[in-house]
Amino acid sequence: MFLVTGATGNVGRHVVERLVARGEKVRALVRDPRRAVLPVGVEVVEGDLSRPETLDAALDCVTGVFLFAVPGSGPAFVEAAQRAGVERVVLLSSNGVDDTAAEQANPIAAYHAEIEQALRGGKPAWTFLRSAHMATNALPWAGQIRAGDVVRAPYAGATSAPIHEADLAEVAVVALTEDGHAGQVYPLSGPASLTAAEQVTLIGEALGRPLVFEELTPEVAREQMSRFMPPFILNTLFEQWEQSVGNPAPVYDTVERLTGRPARAFAQWAADRVADFS
Ligand SMILES: NC(=O)c1ccc[n+]([C@@H]2O[C@H](COP(=O)([O-])OP(=O)(O)OC[C@H]3O[C@@H](n4cnc5c(N)ncnc54)[C@H](OP(=O)(O)O)[C@@H]3O)[C@@H](O)[C@H]2O)c1
Repeated sequence: MFLVTGATGNVGRHVVERLVARGEKVRALVRDPRRAVLPVGVEVVEGDLSRPETLDAALDCVTGVFLFAVPGSGPAFVEAAQRAGVERVVLLSSNGVDDTAAEQANPIAAYHAEIEQALRGGKPAWTFLRSAHMATNALPWAGQIRAGDVVRAPYAGATSAPIHEADLAEVAVVALTEDGHAGQVYPLSGPASLTAAEQVTLIGEALGRPLVFEELTPEVAREQMSRFMPPFILNTLFEQWEQSVGNPAPVYDTVERLTGRPARAFAQWAADRVADFS
């Protein structure tokens, strides 16, 4: 039996689908079962990674876990996983984590590193999927794209190699169901470095209408985004965007190595997500 956490999210949803398609028994941990829409045959259990008392029931009879990183949840999760006799855990982590740093560069990297650390100290075998920028980070542009042809955002030249959530899920399922991935740290990205403006162009091509990226000054963008984003995420994002301008994002071949198939292009992601932008 596999437990998928974050099962209603972008990546977890695909992990559930792929495990079910392989004929595996799947349990999904969700905070609100009434709102969770999951494939037939998936056992839904109410639970919360930040409420350790909910984990024993969720982990009963589970051998493998796909773990979504909830800040501060690592130590209690590892204790519960050990009690339940879980054999392997695949963590969706971040490529911001720096193994050589005494202190992580930002709070997002720090909370992922803390969960990795807890897993390293526990009994279940672990695999870390250190994801680069996800293609889903383009979804906040959807409102502007549905309303017109202009995306107003900061740092047109900020680079990333966006990864399709389905590729992350496919790698997760390989690591959960096949041997040889224990103790492995996998950096993951999409197949190419693109600027934010190039990503907007590709979304326009998927929609069949040209889109324009209109660059906002960092000051104006920060003021707008601070209305819906906590300062620690905002600061990290702006720092990363600024530093990336003019520097291509690293591209890794991990998806192809583990799945035997090249990582999906951002153009493919945009085509898959046309409904979100229409
Ligand atoms: N965005 C990036 O560029 C990037 C880069 C590297 C790594 N990552 C990692 O990837 C994650 C995003 O993955 P995603 O896009 O699949 O997530 P998502 O679509 O934002 O979904 C969040 C999921 O987490 C679950 N969740 C949230 N808090 C929870 C809690 N306390 N206990 C149990 N479940 C909880 C939610 O489940 P319910 O609401 O159903 O309970 C939901 O299924 C980030 O949080 C980060 O760890 C992201």
